[in-house]
Amino acid sequence: MTVAVRGPLVGRRAEFGRLRALLRDAAAGSPVVALVSGDAGVGKTRLVAELSAQARLDGFTVLTGRCAELADTVPYLPLADALREAAAGPLASGPLADALADRPVLSRLLPDAPGGQPAGADTPGFAQQQLFGAVLGMLSDLAEASPVLLILEDLHWADRSTRDLVTFLSRVLHRERLAIVVTYRTDDLHRRHPLRPVLAELSRLPSVTTVALGPLTPSAMAEHLTSLSGGMLDAEVLDSVITRAEGNAYYAEELLAAASTCVGELPARLADLLLARTERLSPAAQQVLRVAAVTGRRVDDELARQASGLAAPEYDDAVREAVAHQLLVPDGERGYAFRHALLREAIYADLLPGERTRLHGRLAELLADERRLAEVRGTAAELARHSLASHEIPRAFAASVEAGKEADRLAAPAEAHRHYDQALSLWDRVKDPEKLSGMTRGKLAFESANSAAASGDIIRAVQILRRLIEFLGDGSADRKLRCRAGERLAYFLLDLDEDEAAIAAAEAAVAALPQEPPTWQRARALGTHARALLTMKDEAPARAQAQSALAAARAAAAPWVEADALVTLGQLSELDGRIEEAIDLFTRAHQQALRETVLDVELRAAFQLARVQLEWGDLDAASSTAHHGVLRAEEAGLVLAPYGYDLQYLHYLAHYAAGEWDHAQSLADGFVTRVASPAEARLSAMALFIDVARDRPAVAERQTWLRSFFAKDRFAEYIGRGLLAEHALWRGDQETAAAEAEATVRAIEAYDRGFSPPVIRPAAVGLCALADLAWQARAAGDAARVEALVQSASDLVEIAREGAAFPARPKSVLGVDGRGWLARAEAEWHRAQGGNDPGYWQAVVDVFGPGFVYETARSRWRLAEALAAASRRDEAQQELLLAAEAADRIGATPLRAALSDLARRARLADRSAPAAAGSGSRTGGAAARDPLAGLTERELEVLRLLATGQTNKEIGAELFIAPKTASVHVSNILGKLGAASRTEAAAIAHAQGVGLPARRGG
Ligand SMILES: Nc1ncnc2c1ncn2[C@@H]1O[C@H](COP(=O)(O)OP(=O)(O)OP(=O)(O)O)[C@@H](O)[C@H]1O
Ligand SMILES: [Mg+2]
Repeated sequence: MTVAVRGPLVGRRAEFGRLRALLRDAAAGSPVVALVSGDAGVGKTRLVAELSAQARLDGFTVLTGRCAELADTVPYLPLADALREAAAGPLASGPLADALADRPVLSRLLPDAPGGQPAGADTPGFAQQQLFGAVLGMLSDLAEASPVLLILEDLHWADRSTRDLVTFLSRVLHRERLAIVVTYRTDDLHRRHPLRPVLAELSRLPSVTTVALGPLTPSAMAEHLTSLSGGMLDAEVLDSVITRAEGNAYYAEELLAAASTCVGELPARLADLLLARTERLSPAAQQVLRVAAVTGRRVDDELARQASGLAAPEYDDAVREAVAHQLLVPDGERGYAFRHALLREAIYADLLPGERTRLHGRLAELLADERRLAEVRGTAAELARHSLASHEIPRAFAASVEAGKEADRLAAPAEAHRHYDQALSLWDRVKDPEKLSGMTRGKLAFESANSAAASGDIIRAVQILRRLIEFLGDGSADRKLRCRAGERLAYFLLDLDEDEAAIAAAEAAVAALPQEPPTWQRARALGTHARALLTMKDEAPARAQAQSALAAARAAAAPWVEADALVTLGQLSELDGRIEEAIDLFTRAHQQALRETVLDVELRAAFQLARVQLEWGDLDAASSTAHHGVLRAEEAGLVLAPYGYDLQYLHYLAHYAAGEWDHAQSLADGFVTRVASPAEARLSAMALFIDVARDRPAVAERQTWLRSFFAKDRFAEYIGRGLLAEHALWRGDQETAAAEAEATVRAIEAYDRGFSPPVIRPAAVGLCALADLAWQARAAGDAARVEALVQSASDLVEIAREGAAFPARPKSVLGVDGRGWLARAEAEWHRAQGGNDPGYWQAVVDVFGPGFVYETARSRWRLAEALAAASRRDEAQQELLLAAEAADRIGATPLRAALSDLARRARLADRSAPAAAGSGSRTGGAAARDPLAGLTERELEVLRLLATGQTNKEIGAELFIAPKTASVHVSNILGKLGAASRTEAAAIAHAQGVGLPARRGG
């Protein structure tokens, strides 16, 4: 680090203490992110330098990188910095080396690493996600060995990719022993500074702490200055410096330096003060400083020498002079840095316009050196910058194209897009642009669009591609490019749910190239056309096009396009109800993609395969297919990319369905709660399956974070609200449950544009709520309400049936899971109408079968209830025990409580072990004081219900006894309690803490 550490740290005890406490949290396994902010020169760097020294003492691995001013020239510079520094240090041979060796994507960031594009076929964003995943993986690996402190300095200068990376890490950190500390200047953050929204987003995360550095107190300043001057300062100067520095340590140091040499008035503005210090230097040293200020904060020695026009010995003397005056400090092996960025800014601002242009021009000339361009990372981007500043348009143009390519190689699509866009905007201003850039204008626009999409800006990509297609025209000479542009446009439009436009774009892409000679581009366009056509009701065109894609891919020897077409064909077979064939096609696609190592197609195939296996109840196969896919996605850092996260939840759901809940839980716990992207929201919603079924506190926290996503992501809403409906049921809040279920049904209706099989589950849950409410209304004798509820239930069961029939895909067939939920919807519908025929629940149990452990146990609970009501007590007992055993084994607490409740009401055992505890009446020492001591268990049950205000009829229904029997119990109770009325008995019960409503639902 270039900060000169002079004198002990003063003030900042509170801030240092807070940061240390955060390190302790991190070391204990709750990752933290600290945002250290403050004005320039206030002491951010100094504070984190002290912190890193402390962290090292505490056994942390410390990685430090900083952003460079003007230099989004090298994407991920701070990260690359941190890695380079660490790779050169003692860590190099230890865990860091392993962590890097395991992740070739990362070593691309290091200097002298071979370039080369990550293998991502053409999935947008793939490369960057891969890189982010790799960074996360590397940090996690390091943190296994010892806690890690990652410091990223001067984030206000960060490139967009670095900002995205910081956001990504802050959100996904989970249990890693990792602390991330970033610093940024508050006075640099103008209103539209790109770091602002990032900070706003970050500070909402609970793991993020803001540490704002204010001015140092006068006494801290006095201490600092005294120690710097060795106590040689007279009180008057000291006082004046303190007043003027306004708590800014750097300012104070500069004032002090000026005070010790200057006679007379001290300049007022900091810039003047800094410039005044340079003015005392020799002309040669001043020249070096001016060159350095144009170069950037970090100065390459050789470059600066050449640009300065000084001879070597003269130049060396000049640099030595600047260093002696604490204006420059050595930085790394090959250069210098300004002692403080403010100094560079002041000098740069003081240059005359012509002087500035000339220096930029000189630097551009020097940078344009072929060898340098090839060897020193970021040279092209710098060359572009200097060329532009010196109005050398052709050079700026060519360098922008090169910088774009370099950013592409570094998986920094946002920067690549910026450079390509820059080049495009210069296209018309240069002679012979094709020769300069080595590509056509169309190709350049195509690259720009792809990098925009990869950086997440699909809308921008669509804009550029549309303009490109218009520019190319129908009779385009470059037919391949026309085809590619159309195919990408269709692909992105599908992403934006603009299906019709996508179909049209893909069709035009196919038409752009002739069938002969075969090309992979045309095959790919056919494949994307087929996928776009999948959104149509009529499957024939999609099938025809997918088959053409397959044939074209074979003819063009493009096996990855072939594998992709096979997946689409599998989806079509599935829609046609030919499941075996679908599984076969998905399997073939998967194997082929594996062989060809096209990861995105492989993951797409794995996803489809695991999904069908799960739906058809082949839970083992589903979990192993999905698990393998997750491992592959992990290796490539793609766990949050499309199909990567899908495979994650399928893996988890397969274990969940099979009742392997501890395993499922450990997977769900890894799904972040503080969601910030649709992928994360979907995963967190999925985690609710188990969190709700186990009634874990995580439900509330997940819900808080998910809510805001429901409006943005229909799928997350569908999963999340469906489970929140179940959660409400378990809590006995049927009204909320019904409302959430209704919202879930609407969400999936909107997502699938009509009723489809996924609607069955929330409909069944809603029906359950309505059935419960109808039973209550019936017991209360509220006929009008019963009628209204039955009407709602009737509407809902129709929706479930329509979803099962899947009118948009009449030939498709429901899987085991779908049929199980449909049977449950029918059983709930029967219950809503006041029926309680065990046959319905037996059907649910039979359809799900023993494989779906939890769903079967849940259904056995209702089955036992119906059997008890039908006085088939032995069977009821058996079902109840089976359900209780399963609920105990998997830890389904709410279900277990419902089973105990049923057992109590129906007087059945809920454990097969020695008979349940408790005898006929309560006895013991407390009896004398306990007015309820004389009541039997049954009477206590009745009293509990009576105390909640239930009528004899309701009590009878609840306890599976005739209303008349209930009334006999009530009179006995009144007698034993010596109560004159039901109200008085209720009062006694309340006084004894009896009368809380029983839990129902689920
Ligand atoms: N609390 C402190 N005790 C002693 N010296 C300090 C303290 N804070 C800052 N300094 C000194 O003041 C100078 C400026 O501090 P520093 O470089 O840390 O500022 P900064 O906030 O990082 O500025 P910038 O935004 O420009 O990076 C350094 O020489 C540093 O050693
Ligand atoms: Mg600093």
